[in-house]
Amino acid sequence: MDASNFYTGIVAELYEPLKSTSQAWEPYAEFIARSGEPALELGCGDGEPILDLLRNGFDVDGIDSSQDMLARCSQKAAEADIKVALFAQRMEELDLPRRYRSVFLAGPTFTLLPDDETALRALKGIRRHLADGGSALVPLFIPAPTEPHQIGRVSEVVSEDGAVLRCSVVSADHDEEARIQRSVLRYEKHANGASLVEDRTWLLHWYTQSGFRKLAEAGGLIVAAVQDKDGQAIPPGSGATEFKFILQPAL
Ligand SMILES: C[S@@+](CC[C@H](N)C(=O)[O-])C[C@H]1O[C@@H](n2cnc3c(N)ncnc32)[C@H](O)[C@@H]1O
Repeated sequence: MDASNFYTGIVAELYEPLKSTSQAWEPYAEFIARSGEPALELGCGDGEPILDLLRNGFDVDGIDSSQDMLARCSQKAAEADIKVALFAQRMEELDLPRRYRSVFLAGPTFTLLPDDETALRALKGIRRHLADGGSALVPLFIPAPTEPHQIGRVSEVVSEDGAVLRCSVVSADHDEEARIQRSVLRYEKHANGASLVEDRTWLLHWYTQSGFRKLAEAGGLIVAAVQDKDGQAIPPGSGATEFKFILQPAL
């Protein structure tokens, strides 16, 4: 199973109850306020932060490769009486009717693309979908190798209807040379005497700052800024493992 199909079935169902933090919408509102509307969220999943942005009056469309995540997003939008335009698409095959002043990913979803070639296709798609004067926000991170004590550690929640939901790391393989981390995650749902247990391979493919800059330039973009999570400029060559790129169309 490739990474863009990872968030399906039990993973989509358990994604929201098991996630440890909520995605704040305000940093993306600030980005859109600076860069302009309309905006597009790539990998909008089941609705964070796109639904809060729409609730607060921003014109944002969303794409995601998982029909299951989009169905959850649509359901939440309908319950909150929010109108949202969602498209079932992969970001590396972007083909939408509108052009956008702001294109963003909320969190390092870009590292789910399995290799540089796929990432380059996504960057070219972002370039094609940016309106004149627009910009894109791509958060990235370099994962630390999984520590032995993290293997087998279980995150567990009990849902409102009494189901026990669990996720744990079964194994992890970190390849610094290929910039790939492949983890096997075990998802479990125990309810009404029945159990569902599924192992899924989760692949992260990361970038150095200089490597991502080259890829973005090959995709027809220029790097307007590299920032830390608080928006402060990161000097080239710093050892930061979490950074976001602000990209603009090359002339
Ligand atoms: C970590 S989730 C974040 C979702 C969202 N920010 C939320 O909290 O609801 C990553 C999302 O990216 C989507 N995704 C993964 N690979 C993708 C791809 N190549 N193109 C589009 N979406 C992708 C997944 O289906 C998933 O919904």
